[in-house]
Amino acid sequence: MTTTQEIRVAVNGYGVIGKRVADAVAMQPDMVLAGVCDVAADWRPRMAEAKGYALYGAGPGHVSAMRAAGLDVAGTLEDLLTRADIVVDCTPKKVAAANVEAYRRRGIRFIVQGGEKHAVTGHSFVAEASFAGAIGRDSTRVVSCNTTSIVRTLTALKRAGLLVRARGTLLRRATDPWESHLGGIMNTLVPEREIPSHQGPDAQSVDPSLDVVTMAVKVPQTLAHLHYWSVEMTRAATRDEVLAAFGASSRIALIRMDDGLDALNAQTNAVKEMMADLGRPHDNLYEVALWQDMLSVQGNELFYAYMVDNQAIVIPETIDAIRAMTGLAADAAASMALTDTALRIGHLARR
Ligand SMILES: NC(=O)c1ccc[n+]([C@@H]2O[C@H](COP(=O)([O-])OP(=O)(O)OC[C@H]3O[C@@H](n4cnc5c(N)ncnc54)[C@H](O)[C@@H]3O)[C@@H](O)[C@H]2O)c1
Repeated sequence: MTTTQEIRVAVNGYGVIGKRVADAVAMQPDMVLAGVCDVAADWRPRMAEAKGYALYGAGPGHVSAMRAAGLDVAGTLEDLLTRADIVVDCTPKKVAAANVEAYRRRGIRFIVQGGEKHAVTGHSFVAEASFAGAIGRDSTRVVSCNTTSIVRTLTALKRAGLLVRARGTLLRRATDPWESHLGGIMNTLVPEREIPSHQGPDAQSVDPSLDVVTMAVKVPQTLAHLHYWSVEMTRAATRDEVLAAFGASSRIALIRMDDGLDALNAQTNAVKEMMADLGRPHDNLYEVALWQDMLSVQGNELFYAYMVDNQAIVIPETIDAIRAMTGLAADAAASMALTDTALRIGHLARR
């Protein structure tokens, strides 16, 4: 395949991640959205129809139910796969793993999301760390939101020659905003039972050289995750050196508390408001938003905190994974430049 050829992308599962992936694919100059597939027959697939996306049902029963609900359905998942070069599976945890056999049988390239285990594809993807390993592969897994943020930030420190080991505490959002009526927690905090929590080992599935341990607690809010990190560096370094290391990645946005993001309960929602003001789809914060004025260095010890928009951070990585697997870009930098331009990443105010 050449860079002049448009890649046809199918999205299976039009939920929180799938609808964002579909929008992002539609914004790329070198990809076309072949269609989206789901099992729901309510307002959600109607939104795909309203955007002009070709709509498919997982099986014949879903197609019938969707048509009965008045939806214009082009066919089944099987039909969609005949019209695509690659499928991004954004169905819920474990459903995607069950779809893999059908993708393999058909010989179509596929991407699964972070709810699936590394073993489902044998490769885990974060653009700045494992793009090269995904080139020409028939499958990969874009890791979870938290893991993506960990690999992005630690890779930046590693590239600057500063990283020895990292220990992080994750405050995890309780549920996705649109599902707040279905679950989530109130007036409590729920510590994860095990240390390390799964995100540290998951980061090592992308880069086995990372010395990283994570601990996690679920908190009663929905907008984003908040991470606090303590890092041992290879040497005493200045704040400016560390900020330059983080700033070298377009996928890390250096935000400031003294830029109005300074009230504890307002931090994450204020950053999302910035995304809305930028006109981003779904108010997506694709970057790791790291507070530069909170970042602190004591000799060779580094401390910092950042916010992760769990619904958005994996979207640019998914686009880069498509390019790696289909040969649309030779390396991570080339793909990321295209993705960043299309999604307008890198426009956050920095000082
Ligand atoms: N929500 C997040 O913050 C987040 C962040 C990163 C990664 N992920 C991962 O992304 C994946 C998808 O998660 P999500 O939050 O978007 O889930 P979701 O529940 O919001 O969306 C899943 C969609 O798939 C549809 N679906 C269910 N069964 C299907 C089937 N058999 N065929 C086709 N469609 C089917 C559902 O109707 C729904 O629209 C999971 O692996 C998850 O772990 C989620």
